[in-house]
Amino acid sequence: MQEALQGGGEKAIEKQKAVGKMTARERILSLLDDGSFHEYDLFVQHSGKDFDMDKKILPGDGVVTGTGTICGYPVCIYAQDFTVAGGSLGYMHAQKICKIMDHAMKLKTPIIGINDSGGARIQEGVNALAGYGDIFYRNTMASGVIPQISVILGPCAGGAVYSPALTDFVFVVDKISNMFITGPDVIKSVLGEEISKEDLGGARVHAEISGNAHFFAESEQECFEQIKSLFTYIPWSNNKKAEPFETKKPDTKTYKISSIFPADPAKPYDIRHIIRSISDGSEFLEIQELFAPNIVIGFARMNGETVGFVANQPAAMAGVLDCDASDKAARFIRFCDAFNIPIITLEDMPGYLPGINQEHAGVIRHGAKILYAYSEATVPKITVILRKAYGGGYIAMCSSHLKADFVFAWPTAEIAVMGPEGAANVVFRKDIKESDNPDKTRKEKIDEYRKKFANPYVAASYGYIDAVIQPNETRQYVLHALDVSKNKQVQNPDKKHGLPPF
Ligand code: HXC
Repeated sequence: MQEALQGGGEKAIEKQKAVGKMTARERILSLLDDGSFHEYDLFVQHSGKDFDMDKKILPGDGVVTGTGTICGYPVCIYAQDFTVAGGSLGYMHAQKICKIMDHAMKLKTPIIGINDSGGARIQEGVNALAGYGDIFYRNTMASGVIPQISVILGPCAGGAVYSPALTDFVFVVDKISNMFITGPDVIKSVLGEEISKEDLGGARVHAEISGNAHFFAESEQECFEQIKSLFTYIPWSNNKKAEPFETKKPDTKTYKISSIFPADPAKPYDIRHIIRSISDGSEFLEIQELFAPNIVIGFARMNGETVGFVANQPAAMAGVLDCDASDKAARFIRFCDAFNIPIITLEDMPGYLPGINQEHAGVIRHGAKILYAYSEATVPKITVILRKAYGGGYIAMCSSHLKADFVFAWPTAEIAVMGPEGAANVVFRKDIKESDNPDKTRKEKIDEYRKKFANPYVAASYGYIDAVIQPNETRQYVLHALDVSKNKQVQNPDKKHGLPPF
Protein backbone atom coordinates (compact mmCIF):
# COMPACT_ATOMS: atom_id res chain seq x y z
CA MET A 1 0.00 0.00 0.00
CA GLN A 2 2.74 2.48 1.00
CA GLU A 3 4.59 1.54 -2.18
CA ALA A 4 1.53 2.26 -4.31
CA LEU A 5 1.10 5.65 -2.62
CA GLN A 6 4.70 6.54 -3.51
CA GLY A 7 3.78 6.83 -7.22
CA GLY A 8 6.85 6.77 -9.44
CA GLY A 9 9.26 6.76 -6.50
CA GLU A 10 11.66 9.19 -4.89
CA LYS A 11 13.72 10.09 -7.96
CA ALA A 12 10.72 10.86 -10.13
CA ILE A 13 9.14 12.87 -7.32
CA GLU A 14 12.36 14.88 -6.94
CA LYS A 15 12.30 15.60 -10.68
CA GLN A 16 8.68 16.73 -10.41
CA LYS A 17 9.52 19.08 -7.53
CA ALA A 18 12.59 20.43 -9.30
CA VAL A 19 10.35 21.96 -11.97
CA GLY A 20 8.07 23.52 -9.35
CA LYS A 21 5.26 20.97 -9.59
CA MET A 22 3.38 19.22 -6.77
CA THR A 23 2.68 15.49 -6.96
CA ALA A 24 -0.77 14.29 -7.99
CA ARG A 25 -1.84 13.47 -4.41
CA GLU A 26 -0.46 16.73 -3.03
CA ARG A 27 -2.51 18.60 -5.61
CA ILE A 28 -5.71 16.80 -4.70
CA LEU A 29 -5.11 17.31 -0.97
CA SER A 30 -4.40 21.03 -1.47
CA LEU A 31 -7.55 21.52 -3.48
CA LEU A 32 -10.07 19.50 -1.48
CA ASP A 33 -11.37 20.21 2.01
CA ASP A 34 -9.09 18.81 4.73
CA GLY A 35 -9.66 15.12 5.33
CA SER A 36 -12.36 14.83 2.67
CA PHE A 37 -10.44 12.93 -0.02
CA HIS A 38 -11.22 9.24 -0.48
CA GLU A 39 -9.12 7.46 -3.08
CA TYR A 40 -10.36 4.53 -5.19
CA ASP A 41 -8.73 2.02 -7.53
CA LEU A 42 -5.28 2.49 -6.04
CA PHE A 43 -4.36 -1.08 -7.00
CA VAL A 44 -5.55 -1.01 -10.61
CA GLN A 45 -2.72 -2.22 -12.85
CA HIS A 46 -1.98 -1.40 -16.47
CA SER A 47 -2.79 -3.93 -19.18
CA GLY A 48 0.21 -3.28 -21.50
CA LYS A 49 2.04 -6.37 -22.67
CA ASP A 50 4.36 -5.23 -25.44
CA PHE A 51 7.85 -3.77 -25.10
CA ASP A 52 8.35 -5.61 -21.77
CA MET A 53 5.53 -3.66 -20.22
CA ASP A 54 4.21 -6.89 -18.65
CA LYS A 55 7.30 -6.85 -16.41
CA LYS A 56 6.64 -3.30 -15.17
CA ILE A 57 4.50 -2.18 -12.28
CA LEU A 58 2.96 1.26 -12.71
CA PRO A 59 1.43 2.29 -9.34
CA GLY A 60 -2.22 3.24 -9.79
CA ASP A 61 -1.45 3.15 -13.52
CA GLY A 62 -0.37 6.77 -13.32
CA VAL A 63 -3.62 8.38 -12.23
CA VAL A 64 -5.14 9.09 -8.80
CA THR A 65 -8.96 9.08 -8.63
CA GLY A 66 -11.49 9.65 -5.89
CA THR A 67 -14.18 11.79 -4.31
CA GLY A 68 -14.11 14.62 -1.80
CA THR A 69 -15.52 18.05 -1.11
CA ILE A 70 -14.58 21.64 -1.96
CA CYS A 71 -16.04 24.24 0.42
CA GLY A 72 -18.42 21.45 1.45
CA TYR A 73 -19.61 20.71 -2.12
CA PRO A 74 -19.13 17.13 -3.31
CA VAL A 75 -16.79 16.52 -6.25
CA CYS A 76 -15.32 13.65 -8.22
CA ILE A 77 -11.69 14.17 -9.12
CA TYR A 78 -8.74 12.63 -10.94
CA ALA A 79 -5.11 13.73 -11.17
CA GLN A 80 -2.61 12.27 -13.60
CA ASP A 81 0.63 11.28 -11.87
CA PHE A 82 3.55 12.39 -14.04
CA THR A 83 5.98 10.48 -11.80
CA VAL A 84 4.53 7.22 -13.16
CA ALA A 85 5.48 6.73 -16.81
CA GLY A 86 5.07 10.46 -17.40
CA GLY A 87 1.36 10.31 -16.52
CA SER A 88 0.93 8.68 -19.92
CA LEU A 89 -2.54 7.38 -20.68
CA GLY A 90 -2.85 3.65 -21.13
CA TYR A 91 -6.08 1.68 -21.35
CA MET A 92 -6.55 1.05 -17.59
CA HIS A 93 -5.48 4.61 -16.74
CA ALA A 94 -8.30 5.77 -19.03
CA GLN A 95 -10.75 3.29 -17.50
CA LYS A 96 -10.03 4.70 -14.02
CA ILE A 97 -10.81 8.18 -15.36
CA CYS A 98 -13.96 6.93 -17.09
CA LYS A 99 -15.12 5.21 -13.90
CA ILE A 100 -14.82 8.39 -11.80
CA MET A 101 -16.53 10.38 -14.60
CA ASP A 102 -19.39 7.86 -14.58
CA HIS A 103 -19.63 8.30 -10.80
CA ALA A 104 -19.84 12.06 -11.23
CA MET A 105 -22.68 11.66 -13.72
CA LYS A 106 -24.57 9.22 -11.44
CA LEU A 107 -23.97 11.22 -8.26
CA LYS A 108 -24.58 14.53 -10.09
CA THR A 109 -21.40 16.20 -8.87
CA PRO A 110 -18.85 18.30 -10.75
CA ILE A 111 -15.84 16.47 -12.17
CA ILE A 112 -12.33 17.89 -11.92
CA GLY A 113 -9.49 16.55 -14.05
CA ILE A 114 -5.90 17.50 -13.27
CA ASN A 115 -3.84 16.95 -16.41
CA ASP A 116 -0.10 16.29 -16.28
CA SER A 117 0.77 13.74 -18.92
CA GLY A 118 2.97 12.83 -21.85
CA GLY A 119 -0.19 11.81 -23.75
CA ALA A 120 -1.13 8.45 -25.20
CA ARG A 121 1.08 5.69 -23.72
CA ILE A 122 3.17 4.87 -26.74
CA GLN A 123 3.69 1.18 -25.77
CA GLU A 124 -0.08 0.55 -25.68
CA GLY A 125 -0.80 1.69 -29.22
CA VAL A 126 -4.44 1.79 -30.23
CA ASN A 127 -5.64 0.85 -26.72
CA ALA A 128 -4.35 4.21 -25.49
CA LEU A 129 -6.20 5.97 -28.28
CA ALA A 130 -9.33 4.02 -27.38
CA GLY A 131 -8.99 5.31 -23.83
CA TYR A 132 -9.01 8.91 -25.05
CA GLY A 133 -12.07 8.21 -27.17
CA ASP A 134 -13.89 6.82 -24.11
CA ILE A 135 -13.07 10.00 -22.17
CA PHE A 136 -14.10 12.39 -24.96
CA TYR A 137 -17.44 10.58 -25.29
CA ARG A 138 -18.07 10.99 -21.56
CA ASN A 139 -17.02 14.67 -21.65
CA THR A 140 -19.60 15.22 -24.37
CA MET A 141 -22.38 13.33 -22.58
CA ALA A 142 -21.63 15.18 -19.33
CA SER A 143 -21.65 18.57 -21.08
CA GLY A 144 -24.49 20.67 -19.66
CA VAL A 145 -25.31 18.02 -17.03
CA ILE A 146 -22.49 18.47 -14.51
CA PRO A 147 -19.83 21.19 -14.41
CA GLN A 148 -16.54 19.88 -15.85
CA ILE A 149 -13.28 21.49 -14.82
CA SER A 150 -9.85 20.88 -16.34
CA VAL A 151 -6.67 21.90 -14.59
CA ILE A 152 -3.54 21.82 -16.74
CA LEU A 153 -0.53 21.31 -14.49
CA GLY A 154 2.11 19.98 -16.84
CA PRO A 155 2.18 18.84 -20.43
CA CYS A 156 -1.10 18.17 -22.19
CA ALA A 157 -0.22 17.32 -25.75
CA GLY A 158 -1.62 15.71 -28.85
CA GLY A 159 -5.22 14.57 -28.84
CA ALA A 160 -5.13 14.78 -25.03
CA VAL A 161 -5.96 18.48 -25.31
CA TYR A 162 -9.44 17.65 -26.54
CA SER A 163 -10.72 16.49 -23.18
CA PRO A 164 -10.05 19.93 -21.60
CA ALA A 165 -11.41 21.58 -24.74
CA LEU A 166 -14.70 19.75 -24.23
CA THR A 167 -14.99 20.85 -20.59
CA ASP A 168 -16.44 24.06 -19.15
CA PHE A 169 -13.52 25.75 -17.42
CA VAL A 170 -9.80 25.31 -18.10
CA PHE A 171 -7.28 26.48 -15.48
CA VAL A 172 -3.61 27.08 -16.37
CA VAL A 173 -0.52 28.01 -14.37
CA ASP A 174 2.31 30.18 -15.68
CA LYS A 175 5.47 28.26 -16.67
CA ILE A 176 3.85 24.93 -15.70
CA SER A 177 1.02 24.35 -18.19
CA ASN A 178 1.65 23.40 -21.82
CA MET A 179 -1.05 22.55 -24.33
CA PHE A 180 -0.62 21.86 -28.02
CA ILE A 181 -1.72 19.43 -30.70
CA THR A 182 1.80 19.06 -32.05
CA GLY A 183 4.90 20.18 -30.17
CA PRO A 184 7.80 22.36 -31.33
CA ASP A 185 9.76 19.40 -32.75
CA VAL A 186 6.98 18.30 -35.09
CA ILE A 187 6.30 21.88 -36.14
CA LYS A 188 9.97 22.32 -36.97
CA SER A 189 10.21 19.14 -39.02
CA VAL A 190 6.93 19.67 -40.90
CA LEU A 191 6.89 23.44 -41.36
CA GLY A 192 10.44 24.51 -40.58
CA GLU A 193 9.11 26.96 -37.96
CA GLU A 194 10.98 27.29 -34.67
CA ILE A 195 9.20 28.11 -31.43
CA SER A 196 9.59 27.24 -27.75
CA LYS A 197 7.04 25.15 -25.84
CA GLU A 198 6.11 28.20 -23.79
CA ASP A 199 5.56 30.47 -26.79
CA LEU A 200 3.63 27.77 -28.62
CA GLY A 201 1.26 26.63 -25.91
CA GLY A 202 2.20 28.07 -22.53
CA ALA A 203 -0.33 29.26 -19.98
CA ARG A 204 -0.19 32.89 -21.10
CA VAL A 205 -0.72 31.96 -24.75
CA HIS A 206 -3.91 30.08 -23.92
CA ALA A 207 -5.16 32.72 -21.50
CA GLU A 208 -4.49 35.67 -23.82
CA ILE A 209 -4.36 34.55 -27.44
CA SER A 210 -6.10 31.24 -28.13
CA GLY A 211 -8.79 31.64 -25.47
CA ASN A 212 -8.50 27.94 -24.56
CA ALA A 213 -7.92 28.78 -20.89
CA HIS A 214 -10.44 30.50 -18.64
CA PHE A 215 -8.30 31.13 -15.55
CA PHE A 216 -4.59 32.01 -15.39
CA ALA A 217 -2.57 31.70 -12.16
CA GLU A 218 1.02 32.36 -11.16
CA SER A 219 1.24 29.23 -8.98
CA GLU A 220 -0.53 25.92 -8.37
CA GLN A 221 -1.76 27.19 -4.99
CA GLU A 222 -3.27 30.32 -6.57
CA CYS A 223 -4.91 28.10 -9.18
CA PHE A 224 -6.56 25.99 -6.43
CA GLU A 225 -7.86 29.14 -4.74
CA GLN A 226 -9.41 30.19 -8.07
CA ILE A 227 -11.13 26.81 -8.40
CA LYS A 228 -12.50 27.09 -4.84
CA SER A 229 -13.81 30.55 -5.64
CA LEU A 230 -15.51 29.29 -8.83
CA PHE A 231 -17.17 26.53 -6.82
CA THR A 232 -19.01 29.04 -4.68
CA TYR A 233 -20.83 30.30 -7.79
CA ILE A 234 -21.80 27.16 -9.71
CA PRO A 235 -24.37 24.45 -8.95
CA TRP A 236 -23.43 20.78 -8.57
CA SER A 237 -25.46 19.83 -11.62
CA ASN A 238 -28.09 21.03 -14.07
CA ASN A 239 -30.99 19.96 -11.84
CA LYS A 240 -29.87 22.27 -9.04
CA LYS A 241 -29.33 25.97 -8.47
CA ALA A 242 -26.07 27.36 -7.11
CA GLU A 243 -26.03 27.53 -3.31
CA PRO A 244 -27.40 30.87 -2.08
CA PHE A 245 -25.29 33.23 0.05
CA GLU A 246 -26.24 35.98 2.43
CA THR A 247 -26.99 39.25 0.63
CA LYS A 248 -24.30 41.90 0.92
CA LYS A 249 -24.80 45.50 -0.22
CA PRO A 250 -22.33 46.77 -2.84
CA ASP A 251 -19.59 49.11 -1.76
CA THR A 252 -21.01 52.19 -3.48
CA LYS A 253 -18.38 54.44 -2.00
CA THR A 254 -15.60 52.74 -3.91
CA TYR A 255 -17.81 51.94 -6.88
CA LYS A 256 -19.89 55.08 -7.32
CA ILE A 257 -21.56 55.08 -10.72
CA SER A 258 -21.42 58.87 -11.12
CA SER A 259 -17.63 58.74 -10.63
CA ILE A 260 -17.13 55.72 -12.90
CA PHE A 261 -19.38 56.67 -15.81
CA PRO A 262 -18.01 59.66 -17.80
CA ALA A 263 -20.24 62.55 -18.86
CA ASP A 264 -18.50 62.65 -22.25
CA PRO A 265 -20.03 59.86 -24.43
CA ALA A 266 -16.74 59.46 -26.30
CA LYS A 267 -14.76 58.61 -23.14
CA PRO A 268 -14.02 55.03 -22.09
CA TYR A 269 -14.53 53.60 -18.58
CA ASP A 270 -14.10 50.20 -16.97
CA ILE A 271 -17.37 48.27 -17.15
CA ARG A 272 -16.13 45.96 -14.38
CA HIS A 273 -16.51 48.86 -11.97
CA ILE A 274 -20.15 49.22 -13.02
CA ILE A 275 -20.66 45.48 -12.38
CA ARG A 276 -19.12 45.87 -8.92
CA SER A 277 -21.30 48.91 -8.26
CA ILE A 278 -24.41 46.72 -8.42
CA SER A 279 -23.27 43.22 -7.37
CA ASP A 280 -23.53 41.86 -3.82
CA GLY A 281 -20.50 42.97 -1.81
CA SER A 282 -19.07 44.44 -5.05
CA GLU A 283 -17.71 40.94 -5.74
CA PHE A 284 -17.13 39.70 -9.28
CA LEU A 285 -15.33 36.58 -10.48
CA GLU A 286 -14.10 37.39 -13.97
CA ILE A 287 -13.64 34.57 -16.49
CA GLN A 288 -11.21 34.72 -19.45
CA GLU A 289 -10.00 38.06 -18.14
CA LEU A 290 -7.03 38.22 -20.52
CA PHE A 291 -8.78 36.99 -23.69
CA ALA A 292 -10.98 39.25 -25.87
CA PRO A 293 -11.06 41.95 -23.18
CA ASN A 294 -13.57 43.94 -25.25
CA ILE A 295 -16.22 41.77 -23.62
CA VAL A 296 -16.33 40.93 -19.92
CA ILE A 297 -17.92 37.76 -18.57
CA GLY A 298 -18.11 36.32 -15.09
CA PHE A 299 -20.11 35.45 -12.01
CA ALA A 300 -21.42 37.64 -9.23
CA ARG A 301 -24.30 37.43 -6.77
CA MET A 302 -27.45 39.51 -6.55
CA ASN A 303 -29.54 39.10 -3.41
CA GLY A 304 -27.34 36.14 -2.52
CA GLU A 305 -28.05 34.23 -5.77
CA THR A 306 -25.49 33.57 -8.52
CA VAL A 307 -25.87 35.55 -11.74
CA GLY A 308 -23.76 35.63 -14.89
CA PHE A 309 -22.69 39.03 -16.21
CA VAL A 310 -22.01 39.65 -19.91
CA ALA A 311 -20.83 43.20 -20.49
CA ASN A 312 -19.20 45.17 -23.29
CA GLN A 313 -15.95 46.78 -22.15
CA PRO A 314 -15.67 50.37 -23.47
CA ALA A 315 -12.10 50.45 -22.13
CA ALA A 316 -10.97 47.85 -24.73
CA MET A 317 -11.61 48.54 -28.43
CA ALA A 318 -14.67 50.57 -27.39
CA GLY A 319 -16.34 47.27 -26.45
CA VAL A 320 -16.83 46.29 -30.08
CA LEU A 321 -18.07 42.78 -30.88
CA ASP A 322 -15.58 40.72 -32.86
CA CYS A 323 -15.04 37.01 -33.54
CA ASP A 324 -13.32 36.29 -30.20
CA ALA A 325 -15.72 38.37 -28.11
CA SER A 326 -18.71 36.62 -29.67
CA ASP A 327 -17.16 33.21 -29.10
CA LYS A 328 -16.30 34.04 -25.49
CA ALA A 329 -19.72 35.42 -24.63
CA ALA A 330 -21.71 32.73 -26.43
CA ARG A 331 -20.08 29.87 -24.56
CA PHE A 332 -20.57 31.58 -21.21
CA ILE A 333 -24.24 32.32 -21.97
CA ARG A 334 -24.76 28.63 -22.76
CA PHE A 335 -23.06 27.61 -19.50
CA CYS A 336 -25.34 29.93 -17.52
CA ASP A 337 -28.41 28.65 -19.36
CA ALA A 338 -27.46 24.99 -18.87
CA PHE A 339 -26.89 25.50 -15.13
CA ASN A 340 -29.88 27.70 -14.20
CA ILE A 341 -27.93 30.92 -13.76
CA PRO A 342 -29.77 34.17 -14.71
CA ILE A 343 -27.91 36.37 -17.20
CA ILE A 344 -27.46 40.12 -16.76
CA THR A 345 -26.22 41.95 -19.85
CA LEU A 346 -24.67 45.42 -19.68
CA GLU A 347 -24.51 47.04 -23.08
CA ASP A 348 -22.27 49.79 -24.41
CA MET A 349 -20.77 48.98 -27.81
CA PRO A 350 -20.56 50.41 -31.31
CA GLY A 351 -21.63 47.16 -33.04
CA TYR A 352 -19.74 44.37 -34.82
CA LEU A 353 -16.15 45.18 -35.80
CA PRO A 354 -15.81 46.01 -39.51
CA GLY A 355 -12.72 45.05 -41.51
CA ILE A 356 -11.23 42.58 -43.94
CA ASN A 357 -9.56 40.57 -41.17
CA GLN A 358 -12.79 40.10 -39.27
CA GLU A 359 -14.82 39.26 -42.37
CA HIS A 360 -12.24 36.69 -43.46
CA ALA A 361 -11.93 35.31 -39.93
CA GLY A 362 -15.64 34.55 -40.02
CA VAL A 363 -17.28 37.34 -38.03
CA ILE A 364 -20.57 36.32 -39.64
CA ARG A 365 -20.34 32.77 -38.28
CA HIS A 366 -18.79 33.69 -34.92
CA GLY A 367 -21.03 36.72 -34.46
CA ALA A 368 -24.06 34.49 -34.99
CA LYS A 369 -23.06 32.39 -31.96
CA ILE A 370 -24.00 35.16 -29.54
CA LEU A 371 -27.40 35.62 -31.24
CA TYR A 372 -28.00 31.90 -31.02
CA ALA A 373 -26.90 31.57 -27.42
CA TYR A 374 -29.06 34.44 -26.16
CA SER A 375 -32.08 33.38 -28.23
CA GLU A 376 -32.14 29.81 -26.98
CA ALA A 377 -31.38 30.70 -23.33
CA THR A 378 -34.46 30.23 -21.17
CA VAL A 379 -33.05 31.43 -17.83
CA PRO A 380 -34.06 34.95 -16.70
CA LYS A 381 -32.41 37.47 -19.05
CA ILE A 382 -32.07 41.10 -17.97
CA THR A 383 -30.41 43.77 -20.11
CA VAL A 384 -29.29 47.27 -19.18
CA ILE A 385 -28.27 49.64 -22.00
CA LEU A 386 -25.84 52.19 -20.61
CA ARG A 387 -24.73 54.04 -23.68
CA LYS A 388 -24.10 52.83 -27.25
CA ALA A 389 -26.37 50.14 -28.69
CA TYR A 390 -25.73 50.30 -32.39
CA GLY A 391 -26.63 48.10 -35.32
CA GLY A 392 -26.48 44.32 -35.12
CA GLY A 393 -24.83 44.68 -31.73
CA TYR A 394 -28.03 46.21 -30.32
CA ILE A 395 -29.92 43.08 -31.34
CA ALA A 396 -27.14 40.70 -30.30
CA MET A 397 -26.64 42.01 -26.76
CA CYS A 398 -29.79 40.35 -25.48
CA SER A 399 -32.35 42.77 -26.87
CA SER A 400 -36.07 42.29 -26.29
CA HIS A 401 -36.17 40.79 -29.81
CA LEU A 402 -34.07 37.84 -28.57
CA LYS A 403 -36.55 37.51 -25.70
CA ALA A 404 -34.82 39.36 -22.91
CA ASP A 405 -37.31 39.42 -20.05
CA PHE A 406 -36.51 42.99 -19.06
CA VAL A 407 -34.59 45.68 -20.94
CA PHE A 408 -33.72 48.85 -19.06
CA ALA A 409 -31.92 51.86 -20.50
CA TRP A 410 -30.12 54.74 -18.86
CA PRO A 411 -31.04 58.22 -20.19
CA THR A 412 -27.57 58.22 -21.81
CA ALA A 413 -28.45 55.21 -24.03
CA GLU A 414 -28.02 55.66 -27.78
CA ILE A 415 -30.01 53.10 -29.73
CA ALA A 416 -29.71 53.37 -33.51
CA VAL A 417 -28.68 51.58 -36.67
CA MET A 418 -25.23 53.14 -36.44
CA GLY A 419 -23.34 55.94 -34.70
CA PRO A 420 -24.37 59.52 -35.62
CA GLU A 421 -21.07 60.18 -37.46
CA GLY A 422 -21.35 57.15 -39.74
CA ALA A 423 -25.08 57.58 -40.23
CA ALA A 424 -24.81 61.25 -41.24
CA ASN A 425 -22.09 60.44 -43.77
CA VAL A 426 -24.35 57.89 -45.46
CA VAL A 427 -27.81 59.44 -45.21
CA PHE A 428 -26.77 63.03 -45.83
CA ARG A 429 -23.89 62.38 -48.20
CA LYS A 430 -25.50 64.46 -50.97
CA ASP A 431 -26.35 67.40 -48.66
CA ILE A 432 -22.80 67.40 -47.27
CA LYS A 433 -21.20 67.16 -50.71
CA GLU A 434 -23.31 69.94 -52.20
CA SER A 435 -22.99 72.25 -49.20
CA ASP A 436 -20.93 75.44 -49.39
CA ASN A 437 -19.49 74.45 -46.04
CA PRO A 438 -19.36 70.62 -45.97
CA ASP A 439 -17.76 70.44 -42.48
CA LYS A 440 -20.45 72.64 -40.96
CA THR A 441 -23.23 70.72 -42.71
CA ARG A 442 -21.76 67.41 -41.62
CA LYS A 443 -21.66 68.61 -38.00
CA GLU A 444 -25.25 69.85 -38.21
CA LYS A 445 -26.45 66.58 -39.71
CA ILE A 446 -24.57 64.55 -37.07
CA ASP A 447 -26.26 66.63 -34.35
CA GLU A 448 -29.64 66.24 -36.04
CA TYR A 449 -29.21 62.46 -36.20
CA ARG A 450 -27.95 62.31 -32.61
CA LYS A 451 -30.93 64.28 -31.32
CA LYS A 452 -33.39 62.14 -33.23
CA PHE A 453 -32.03 58.64 -32.63
CA ALA A 454 -29.14 58.62 -30.16
CA ASN A 455 -31.39 58.29 -27.12
CA PRO A 456 -33.51 55.56 -25.48
CA TYR A 457 -36.89 57.17 -26.08
CA VAL A 458 -37.51 56.11 -29.69
CA ALA A 459 -36.92 52.44 -28.76
CA ALA A 460 -39.00 52.95 -25.59
CA SER A 461 -41.87 54.39 -27.68
CA TYR A 462 -42.07 51.04 -29.49
CA GLY A 463 -41.90 49.07 -26.24
CA TYR A 464 -38.43 47.66 -27.01
CA ILE A 465 -37.22 49.15 -23.72
CA ASP A 466 -39.24 48.39 -20.59
CA ALA A 467 -38.08 51.36 -18.54
CA VAL A 468 -35.70 54.29 -18.78
CA ILE A 469 -33.99 54.29 -15.39
CA GLN A 470 -31.49 56.46 -13.57
CA PRO A 471 -28.04 54.85 -13.24
CA ASN A 472 -28.31 54.73 -9.44
CA GLU A 473 -31.58 52.76 -9.74
CA THR A 474 -29.89 49.92 -11.65
CA ARG A 475 -29.38 47.50 -8.75
CA GLN A 476 -32.91 48.03 -7.50
CA TYR A 477 -34.43 47.39 -10.98
CA VAL A 478 -32.25 44.35 -11.64
CA LEU A 479 -33.00 42.85 -8.21
CA HIS A 480 -36.71 43.33 -8.75
CA ALA A 481 -36.51 41.80 -12.24
CA LEU A 482 -34.66 38.79 -10.82
CA ASP A 483 -37.20 38.49 -8.04
CA VAL A 484 -40.23 38.44 -10.31
CA SER A 485 -38.46 36.07 -12.78
CA LYS A 486 -37.87 33.34 -10.17
CA ASN A 487 -40.65 31.17 -11.50
CA LYS A 488 -39.90 31.79 -15.18
CA GLN A 489 -40.86 28.85 -17.37
CA VAL A 490 -40.18 28.90 -21.08
CA GLN A 491 -40.04 25.90 -23.38
CA ASN A 492 -38.16 26.09 -26.68
CA PRO A 493 -39.68 24.10 -29.60
CA ASP A 494 -39.34 20.34 -29.30
CA LYS A 495 -36.34 19.12 -31.35
CA LYS A 496 -33.49 16.63 -31.18
CA HIS A 497 -31.05 19.53 -30.98
CA GLY A 498 -30.46 22.87 -32.67
CA LEU A 499 -27.62 23.68 -35.02
CA PRO A 500 -25.65 26.53 -33.48
CA PRO A 501 -23.12 28.08 -35.88
CA PHE A 502 -20.06 26.18 -34.70
C1 HXC B 1 4.98 6.37 -22.62
C2 HXC B 1 5.99 8.21 -21.75
C3 HXC B 1 5.23 9.06 -22.57
C4 HXC B 1 4.29 8.46 -23.45
C5 HXC B 1 6.50 10.30 -21.37
N1 HXC B 1 6.77 9.02 -21.03
N2 HXC B 1 5.59 10.34 -22.31
N3 HXC B 1 5.87 6.89 -21.79
N4 HXC B 1 4.20 7.11 -23.44
N5 HXC B 1 3.52 9.18 -24.24
C6 HXC B 1 7.72 8.56 -20.05
C7 HXC B 1 9.16 8.78 -20.48
O1 HXC B 1 9.59 7.70 -21.29
C8 HXC B 1 9.87 8.80 -19.14
O2 HXC B 1 9.97 7.47 -18.68
C9 HXC B 1 8.87 9.48 -18.24
O3 HXC B 1 7.60 9.36 -18.88
C10 HXC B 1 9.15 10.95 -18.04
O4 HXC B 1 9.32 11.52 -19.32
P1 HXC B 1 10.54 12.50 -19.68
O5 HXC B 1 10.62 12.56 -21.13
O6 HXC B 1 11.75 12.06 -18.92
O7 HXC B 1 10.03 13.87 -19.07
P2 HXC B 1 10.28 15.32 -19.60
O8 HXC B 1 11.71 15.49 -19.97
O9 HXC B 1 9.71 16.23 -18.56
O10 HXC B 1 9.41 15.46 -20.93
C11 HXC B 1 8.03 15.38 -20.88
C12 HXC B 1 7.44 15.24 -22.31
C13 HXC B 1 8.13 14.09 -23.05
C14 HXC B 1 7.65 16.58 -23.05
C15 HXC B 1 5.93 15.03 -22.15
O11 HXC B 1 8.12 12.94 -22.21
C16 HXC B 1 7.49 13.74 -24.35
O12 HXC B 1 7.68 14.43 -25.35
N6 HXC B 1 6.70 12.64 -24.33
C17 HXC B 1 6.04 12.16 -25.53
C18 HXC B 1 4.91 13.04 -25.90
C19 HXC B 1 4.12 12.47 -27.03
O13 HXC B 1 4.54 12.56 -28.19
N7 HXC B 1 2.99 11.82 -26.69
C20 HXC B 1 2.11 11.23 -27.62
C21 HXC B 1 1.17 12.35 -28.05
S1 HXC B 1 0.03 11.75 -29.22
P3 HXC B 1 11.22 6.93 -17.79
O14 HXC B 1 10.96 5.48 -17.65
O15 HXC B 1 12.44 7.28 -18.57
O16 HXC B 1 11.11 7.71 -16.51
C22 HXC B 1 -1.31 11.53 -28.34
C23 HXC B 1 -2.43 11.05 -29.17
C24 HXC B 1 -3.72 11.10 -28.43
O17 HXC B 1 -1.38 11.72 -27.18
C25 HXC B 1 -4.81 11.05 -29.42
C26 HXC B 1 -6.15 11.10 -28.78
C27 HXC B 1 -7.22 11.27 -29.80
